[in-house]
Amino acid sequence: MSISKEEFRRALSRFASGVTVVTTKDNDGKLFGITVSAFCSVSLEPPLVLICIEKSAGSHHAFEQSRAFVVNILGENQQTISNHFASHSDDKFSGISYRSGIENLPVLEDALTNLECRLRYSHEGGDHTIYVGEIEKATINDGNPLLYFQGNYQKLDG
Ligand SMILES: Cc1cc2nc3c(=O)[nH]c(=O)nc-3n(C[C@H](O)[C@H](O)[C@H](O)COP(=O)(O)O)c2cc1C
Repeated sequence: MSISKEEFRRALSRFASGVTVVTTKDNDGKLFGITVSAFCSVSLEPPLVLICIEKSAGSHHAFEQSRAFVVNILGENQQTISNHFASHSDDKFSGISYRSGIENLPVLEDALTNLECRLRYSHEGGDHTIYVGEIEKATINDGNPLLYFQGNYQKLDG
C-alpha cells in the first residue's frame, strides 16, 4: 500500500527548500529553462549535484539531449523569475539577463549562485528523471535565498 498523491504533496510541502532555475539546450541549440526545487548536493569529491525533472515538462527532452546544465540558485527578490520559468512559454529567455557559460548555456545574472555542470549520470525517478552533474564552475554572490515552503514563497526571517 502506498500513500495518496494528496498525502504525498502535503507531507513533502513541509520540507522547506530553496528555488533554482535550471537551464539547458536541445540538439537544435534552442534554450530551455525550468524552475526546480528538487535540487540537492550529492558528493564533494567529485563535486556532484542532482536535479529532478518531470518527464512531462516541455523541457525534459532538452535535458535528455544535453550533456550539461546550469543551476541558478535564486535570491529572495527573484520570485518573478521563478514564476516566469515555472510557466509554459515558447521563448522564456527574451527579456531575461544572462551570459553564456558552459556549452553556451544561459547563466542567469543576479542569481545567488550559478553552478555550471557537466552531466555525469541520469537515473529513473518515477515520473521524473534524476540528472546528476559535476560542477565545473561556480559563481557565488552574497544575499538571501528565495525559499519555498508549504506551496508558498518565503524569505528568511531575521
Ligand atoms: C517553486 C517551484 C518548484 C518547482 N520544482 C520543480 C522540480 O523540482 N522539477 C520539475 O520538473 N518541475 C518543478 N516545478 C514545475 C516546473 O517549473 C513547471 O512545470 C514548468 O512549467 C515546466 O516548464 P516547461 O514545461 O517549459 O519545461 C516547480 C515549480 C515551482 C513554482
